[in-house]
Amino acid sequence: LISGATQGPLAGRRVVITAGPTREPIDPVRYISNHSSGKMGYALASAARMAGANVILVSGPVSIEAPVGVEVRGVTTAQEMLEYASGAVDEGCDLFIATAAVADYRPDSCAGDKIKKTDEGMSLSLVRNPDTLAAIAARADAPFTVGFAAETRDVEHYALDKLTRKKLNMIVANDVSAPGLGFNSDSNAVTAFWPQGREAIGPDTKVAIAQRLIALIGEHLESKAG
Ligand code: CTP
Ligand code: CA
Repeated sequence: LISGATQGPLAGRRVVITAGPTREPIDPVRYISNHSSGKMGYALASAARMAGANVILVSGPVSIEAPVGVEVRGVTTAQEMLEYASGAVDEGCDLFIATAAVADYRPDSCAGDKIKKTDEGMSLSLVRNPDTLAAIAARADAPFTVGFAAETRDVEHYALDKLTRKKLNMIVANDVSAPGLGFNSDSNAVTAFWPQGREAIGPDTKVAIAQRLIALIGEHLESKAG
């Protein structure tokens, strides 16, 4: 267990963050996934740690180092993401931030052997994956919950829809159609929405955006508590 620092806006707070992509197996050598690098989630974990929090990072497969002082719990599939994030929240959680790019669907079964190609086309049958963020926001003991929404159009509309539908305290929207920003990039531009307001942050590095978001979330946690 890594204990929290005693100073900073999140001193003593327990924070759980999801990050990275998930991988949904098709057969022993293939999977469905997406372009998430994990950078935004790792930058938030680092910023939360520096703000004094005790941080657990539930991470899909990424190629970046664990932030200093943060406990990383690795997962592969969306189902594991739900299981591990719920388990971490069970241990006590004041703030849950979902940055993971979770696959919305998985193959309905994983073939036991490598699938051989034929001269025909092929199709995969997919089933819906569980929504970790919605599940945690719906708990009776729900922490302050923050979601991310990567959109390519109608960013504000979809972000506000997710804020309401998933019953979140805040949603951070980014337009991934903007060249050089978002997925895989070191930079980003986002707008944070909460039920009574909003704030645009960036374009800036993901590290700088993470620091501002943690400060902003800290202000909202204070007002929720008091
Ligand atoms: N999320 C999650 N589990 C899922 C899907 C999404 O925890 N199975 C979280 C993401 O980490 C993000 C938020 O929900 O914080 C929004 O994800 P997004 O993919 O934008 O929303 P969806 O509800 O899946 O809607 P859609 O992909 O259709 O836009
Ligand atoms: Ca989705």
